[in-house]
Amino acid sequence: MADRDRPLLLSLFEMATPGHLAHGLWTHPNDQRHRVDDLGFWRELGELLEYGTFDQLFLADVLGTYDVFADGLDTAVREAFQVPALDPLIVLGALADVTDHLGLVATFSTTYEPPFPFARRLATLDALSRGRIGWNIVTSYLKNAAENFGLDEQIEHDERYAIADEYLEVLYRLLLGSWDDGAVMLDRERRVFTDPAKVHYIDHRGPRFAVKGPHLVAPTPQRLPVLFQAGTSLRGLSFAARHAEVVFVGGWTADEVRENVRAVRQQAGEYGRRADRIAFVTSVDVVVGRTADEAAAKASEYDRHRTPREVLAQPRRMPELDRYDPGELVEDIIKRKDHGYRMLIRGWRPGQTVRDLQSKPVPRRSGPSDFRIVGGPEEVATALERVAARAEIDGFNLSQNVSFDSLRDFVELVVPVLRRRGLVRESYRAGETLRERIFPAAASPYPDPTHPGSAHRRPS
Ligand SMILES: Cc1cc2nc3c(=O)[nH]c(=O)nc-3n(C[C@H](O)[C@H](O)[C@H](O)COP(=O)(O)O)c2cc1C
Repeated sequence: MADRDRPLLLSLFEMATPGHLAHGLWTHPNDQRHRVDDLGFWRELGELLEYGTFDQLFLADVLGTYDVFADGLDTAVREAFQVPALDPLIVLGALADVTDHLGLVATFSTTYEPPFPFARRLATLDALSRGRIGWNIVTSYLKNAAENFGLDEQIEHDERYAIADEYLEVLYRLLLGSWDDGAVMLDRERRVFTDPAKVHYIDHRGPRFAVKGPHLVAPTPQRLPVLFQAGTSLRGLSFAARHAEVVFVGGWTADEVRENVRAVRQQAGEYGRRADRIAFVTSVDVVVGRTADEAAAKASEYDRHRTPREVLAQPRRMPELDRYDPGELVEDIIKRKDHGYRMLIRGWRPGQTVRDLQSKPVPRRSGPSDFRIVGGPEEVATALERVAARAEIDGFNLSQNVSFDSLRDFVELVVPVLRRRGLVRESYRAGETLRERIFPAAASPYPDPTHPGSAHRRPS
């Protein structure tokens, strides 16, 4: 086993849509994503992931369409740019039945739907999957999502995180504080199904939510599913430091990712949390072949199917800039090391104003990156091992170019090498919850005692 205290986490980064991140690859003859509305697709995906002992499947989600391109809605619809898209929570329910060990993680937004019914859905999935559920917390960045919930404009960025903080508070109270462990008695003789003394109202009255309770679902294996989050803004990173157990950490290079990892760890420490009870996972795009040449040929074949970057150019969204005068020069903000300047250091041009940065459509960034790896099996394994060490991360969120070819290639060519090097697990532990898999040293299905949620659990 390499000098790691736990195996590298392997996560598949997907969305229940034909066009998640590899835009245009649905045109590839082998791609199966047009079948996302077919249970068979998910059964096959689940089987392949468990064959490769992947730790989890993560389903991203948005609550609106990207009507942000040059011709508004048309490009997104024509290109299947994250539309059509199924409800990931329902897909997880189906996957809970056709898989035995796979962690099942999905995105859900804290900005629009109330916490009480969501707590029930999350607990239902945790019960039916025997403790394999994770929740990626988002606040939703699409204007069209706001319009789908009766708003003309988006709620301000940092206010969305203030809503999210209170939302989590309500979820902690419902999932951890409303029922005591062991509340369910199933005592047929004394005709007591649940001990009433162990079920409580939560009486939450906050600035945004009022929830009386009690929660409707009895304690589930994890009680609180594993919390994931992927903030990049200052407010997003501080939210992660307070609540997240797994952070989907971004950055263009391993060094940048390491900076973000250390920043969140440090802030979590300031919130009194055990920093080693937070895991960091970064996204990676791998094209592997039996030889480096085969991989290179595959990569250029995929590129031929990709939607041209210009077609998908859209304005860069930087909430940190909302506080500045649109006419202000970006270089002056950087010189002053003012709020959000770190986000601006990459990619600004002399004379550029805030207005330019916020309004001009820019193509998605591409080109060489530590997280786009093309090569033979040993090469790819070495690159992943090097990046993981340098970025101080605990695992990878693999996104597929062609589904299921990219995953099958990774499982058949890279996983055996990673196993041989002792970097990933060889098998699953029966009955293990997702939290126990991610934090083996903690050996508990429940959140760490230093996690803010644990303050709501009643001593049993
Ligand atoms: C790996 C990864 C997965 C993400 N998945 C989603 C998602 O499913 N839905 C969503 O609305 N945003 C998603 N995001 C965006 C983040 O939630 C967040 O909005 C973005 O990183 C901007 O950060 P901020 O919220 O701190 O401004 C994801 C980001 C990353 C890096």
